[in-house]
Order: sequence, then C-alpha cells, then structure tokens
Amino acid sequence: MQIIQTVSALRNALKNQPSIGFVPTMGNLHAGHIALVTQAKQHATCVVASIFVNPLQFSPTEDLANYPRTLKADCEKLKLAGCDIVFTPSVEEMYADFDGRNLNQSMTIDPPPIANVLCGATRLSHFAGVATVVMKLFNIVQPQMAVFGKKDFQQFFIIKEMVKQFNLPIAILAGETVREESGLALSSRNGYLTEVQRASASQLNSALQHIVNQLKNGNKEFEALEVKATALLKQQGWDVDYISIRSSNNLQLASTFDNNLIVLGAAKIANKTAGKTRLIDNIELCITH
Ligand code: PAF
Repeated sequence: MQIIQTVSALRNALKNQPSIGFVPTMGNLHAGHIALVTQAKQHATCVVASIFVNPLQFSPTEDLANYPRTLKADCEKLKLAGCDIVFTPSVEEMYADFDGRNLNQSMTIDPPPIANVLCGATRLSHFAGVATVVMKLFNIVQPQMAVFGKKDFQQFFIIKEMVKQFNLPIAILAGETVREESGLALSSRNGYLTEVQRASASQLNSALQHIVNQLKNGNKEFEALEVKATALLKQQGWDVDYISIRSSNNLQLASTFDNNLIVLGAAKIANKTAGKTRLIDNIELCITH
C-alpha cells in the first residue's frame, strides 16, 4: 500500500490504473470505514482512500483542533483491508489560499437548499465545505466510483446531487451503516464517549427504531411521532437537534403518500471531559399503503 501526500505523486501513481474506486475519509477509521473500502474493492482494480480533516466543513465552534488524528493506526487498518493507495494531503496541498478556516479567493460549491435543513440548519456552511472538498478530491483522484456511508445520509444525498448536477462520470455507492450490538452507529465521534455514555448512546437509535415500528404499524402522525421521540430523548438527558421523518427519495418532509421513508435524528449527549458529543443516526424503511 502506498501512502501519498501530493496531488502530482498521486496522479502519477494512478496513471495506468484501469479502474479506480475511492473512499474519502477524515481518518480515525473504524469498521464502518473499512466496510466502505471492502465494498470499493469489489468494483475497482485500485482503491484509493483519502485521509484529510477538512477545515472547511467545521464551524468555528466545532471540534476541528481536537478532531482525532490517528494516521499510523488508520494506515494499518487500510493495509489489512487491501486498500492500494492512501492519499493524505496537507491543508496547504488542498487549499492554496487557506487562512486557517476560510478560503479567501477560491471557488466553492454552493449546495442545493436541502443542505440547509437537518444537520445543515445548525451546521451552517458544513455541506458547502463537504461538497467543495469532495469535488476537489474527485478531480484529483478521478475515480469511476466512490463509496459514502449512509450514516451520513444527508451528505450521501448531497454528493449524489452534486455528481448528477455537475455531470461527473462517477458512480456513487451507498455503504450500509455498521453498528455496535447495542444499535449504536459506529462513528469517529463515539471515541469521545465514556463507557457509561456509550451504553446510553444507543437511546438515539432506539428512539428512531420506535418511530420506524409505529410507521410500519400504519401510524402516519409524523409530527406527533417526532415530538414524542424528542420528548423522550430530552427526558433521558439528550439535547435534541432534530428528529425528522422524511422521504428517502428526496429528503423532503414525508407525506402520507410516500413509500420510501427515512427517520433521521441528531442529538447531543453530555460528556464531562469533552463537552457535548453530537451523534447522528437514521433508519430507512419502505411502507406499503
Ligand atoms: O464523511 C466524511 O468523513 C467527510 O465529510 C468527507 C466525505 C470525507 C469529506 O471531508
């Protein structure tokens, strides 16, 4: 497995590859990321994983400085998974005119309005930062396919939109969410949780699962279901950002005619040592009327 830091060296290494699969990450890899690499390997002769903590997608109040950087361990995991190339550019390599948090002159991607709801409602400009770095990485790696985890469903949806609207010749594949036995979705941010918090962290998934069960039983009181789940999580000590039932086809609020639904949630769990840790999760379901 090659570890490459510069765009020119990467282009050189990829010159004669018949097919390239790509898994973009911010490192601190867990089994969920490794599953994306395994998936990419089934579709491409050469798999590139990038590890780049993208400053552009963090707001000034977020955990950019403390975001876990575990390059050595990440590379060992990627090697075991059969990854061919790890691309680990510096911030300067990715953004020539970066001043610490903003791009001064550079062009950025302006994502569609769906980027301003759910996570985008509180994480302002987050998806512009994600879309911009992913567009740059796509142009650098030039893969035929890329895999994105469905835990970040809104991100997956926006990237698919970007590829469609900019006519990029890249197939975007969805990676299933990998979970702990408790139901907790694997996330780099789970590393901030203590063992006790980790046990109660599955309450978010349970709240979403409860809504899913209700929907499967024919309950279509979407708002009431969201309000009830929010109240329950609050009672359990969570600071709820949103609980939302939407169409998984277009991420708009669900209507009673939608068959393909997704229940999404984001909430913060208090952590004495690292402040509040924000977790997200979602469950897709198909209902027949
Ligand atoms: O999902 C992530 O880890 C990041 O948002 C991504 C896609 C690597 C862009 O920085």
